[in-house]
Amino acid sequence: MTHILAIDQGTTSTRSIVFDGAQKIVGSAQQEFTQHYPHPGWVEHDPADLVRTTIETMKGAIADAGLEAADIAAIGITNQRETTLVWDRKTGEPLNNAIVWQDRRTSDMCAALKSKGLEETFTARTGLLLDPYFSGTKVAWILEHVEGARAMAEAGELCFGTVDSWLIWNLTGGGIHVTDATNAARTLLFDIRANDWDDDLLAALNVPRAMLPEVKDCAADFGMLDPAILGHAIPILGVAGDQHAATVGQACFEPGMLKSTYGTGCFAVLNTGEEFVASNNRLLTTIAYRLDGKTTYALEGSIFIAGAAVQWLRDGLKMIDKAAKSGELAAASDPEQAIYLVPAFVGLGAPYWDAEARGAIFGLTRNTGPAEFARAALEAVCFQTADLVEAMHRDWAASAETILRVDGGMVASDWTMQCLADLLDAPVDRPEILETTALGAAWLAGRKAGLWPDEAGFAATWKCEHRFAPKMDDATREKKKAGWRDAIARTLSRQK
Ligand code: G3P
Repeated sequence: MTHILAIDQGTTSTRSIVFDGAQKIVGSAQQEFTQHYPHPGWVEHDPADLVRTTIETMKGAIADAGLEAADIAAIGITNQRETTLVWDRKTGEPLNNAIVWQDRRTSDMCAALKSKGLEETFTARTGLLLDPYFSGTKVAWILEHVEGARAMAEAGELCFGTVDSWLIWNLTGGGIHVTDATNAARTLLFDIRANDWDDDLLAALNVPRAMLPEVKDCAADFGMLDPAILGHAIPILGVAGDQHAATVGQACFEPGMLKSTYGTGCFAVLNTGEEFVASNNRLLTTIAYRLDGKTTYALEGSIFIAGAAVQWLRDGLKMIDKAAKSGELAAASDPEQAIYLVPAFVGLGAPYWDAEARGAIFGLTRNTGPAEFARAALEAVCFQTADLVEAMHRDWAASAETILRVDGGMVASDWTMQCLADLLDAPVDRPEILETTALGAAWLAGRKAGLWPDEAGFAATWKCEHRFAPKMDDATREKKKAGWRDAIARTLSRQK
């Protein structure tokens, strides 16, 4: 019994993956679920969909591996972060749809808190900014807007949780209300130095402490799977937010190691070791992972739209047939056309944090076609990554010798990865195992179960499939980056 089941509950789909004792994938299953957009700027998930797709894909992955539940030694969970749920402690019924991390409904609340001069306090303690992205203002919104919620919360009758907490509550049959340090670190309520919920921040957002989960290490005992679900009780031994799990799955255990994951958005995480590095460039300080009570910190750059820009070309504009073809199409574009797409569809994240900005495209000519749009969308992802990495260099000198480890759907495109190396002017390493998020969750559970190797042993198994070395000359790079900076300047909202 050395197999580990990793659950990766993401923004647009849920996946379960079974790894064998040699950390090889032996089975998987995936399901998409409905996104709800009840008002412009709002994004919700049905909480029942998150549980249903989790259970169905768990069953699917075990069947795909030709195994039975009894063959699984432990479960690791990784999840879309910040997405906020509140449920009734007695009945387990959610009060509201889950408010997704992309949801902007609390931007006025964030602006009001900023105008009271509170951002500094929030940032000093949580490493985050007052942006609607994080959970804190979303919980406050539910307590303010759902009838009866405030009184129930004050009476200790409600639970708040990120997606990991919600899944654990449901997978264990109800009653276990826990989270891990990485998910807690994204709530705006958790002091990441003290490793505790912060009473001042709770008071500022008017969120009662009684509704918060217990915070555990990433490799810990999170409860037993209810045997009614798969016919067998399996311990849940690993939990981390998806970007933190990917950091672990990429074996970025040493200070200075950097990974970037390209999914709906793009999230770059730089391990800064035991040091809480405060950013002067509007990056986030966060918990990379917490193991055996020891916190490892990170600087993070969060970009809201990466792969989603390519999806928009495919589904919205119907300019391309397949997202996977975008690299080929971009390679066939006219290099003379300087087209810049700023995909600020839900505002801009790091390092700009402009919730009001909206997308723009510059430099169109009569000859501009799908190939140039594809190139502009892929280059935008690379320019944004370069913005983050430059901000990291400015914040932390020790990050100067950057090698970027990449993962996520978009990294399959050689063209995009070469473009990334060229614009970063640094090597980009693509690993053999691209499922690093699930692998990270599996490693946390496998380590806790005593079945998988420790950090050093696991890092030794990480293998580079291809290194993309920069080839672009400095003058070309600088010209392109100047064009990008100009496009950004023209896109930022005036309200800033
Ligand atoms: O912070 C949001 C992030 O965790 C979502 O990741 O992969 O579900 O788009 P993903």
